Amino acid sequence: MACHGGFSLDEATRRSWFNPESILKTTGIRKGTVFADIGCGEGFFTLLAAEAVGETGKVYAVDVDASAIEKLKRKATQKDLKNIHAFAGKAEETVFCKACSDIVFYSMVLHDFNDPLKVLRNANQMLKPSGLLLDLDWKKLVMPFGPPVQIRFTEQKASELIKHAGFTVANLKDVGPYHYMILAKTNVLKQSAIAPRQRKAQVGHA
Ligand SMILES: C[S@@+](CC[C@H](N)C(=O)[O-])C[C@H]1O[C@@H](n2cnc3c(N)ncnc32)[C@H](O)[C@@H]1O
Repeated sequence: MACHGGFSLDEATRRSWFNPESILKTTGIRKGTVFADIGCGEGFFTLLAAEAVGETGKVYAVDVDASAIEKLKRKATQKDLKNIHAFAGKAEETVFCKACSDIVFYSMVLHDFNDPLKVLRNANQMLKPSGLLLDLDWKKLVMPFGPPVQIRFTEQKASELIKHAGFTVANLKDVGPYHYMILAKTNVLKQSAIAPRQRKAQVGHA
């Protein structure tokens, strides 16, 4: 797996860091939710999300590492989860569909993308007007594990990128000792609430 730093991402280690179910619950995930896991790796959160959204929901997942996607698909088959749509590809080039997703999720990956702003703008295209973005990532602190501190994003840097991509940060908090999470709402609703003539005028002045 192309995670910087060669750290373990096994289940027991993660659960000693944070409670993944609680993290997902903050998004309001429920039966029928459409969830997109970007840079999903072998699908730790993808699989939990697929259980939470049930047969009426759908989980999209993408990772640049084709072998990680194969492992995710095998795990999904073992668990008899049929609601996962997983693809190998670059997040920068991935828009699963327009305004189709209730939640776009990044776990410990935003700092890994070559072009995080493009990836976040893709999220804005995928999200429904009521949609939520959740960015879970490493604190920018020196630790004996995790990615090198110099490539990590501070909460401020991640928030600025998220805002720049057209979101409003709704919540930012620590998740255990090593991670933070940012919840953000898309501004798409505000934009679509503007009268079409006014919007045209705005474009004209851009
Ligand atoms: C630290 S791992 C996190 C994996 C997963 N989110 C999790 O929590 O288990 C980072 C993942 O991002 C993927 N990745 C890095 N750059 C990517 C890109 N441009 N597009 C898609 N996936 C990418 C890597 O292949 C790797 O699986």
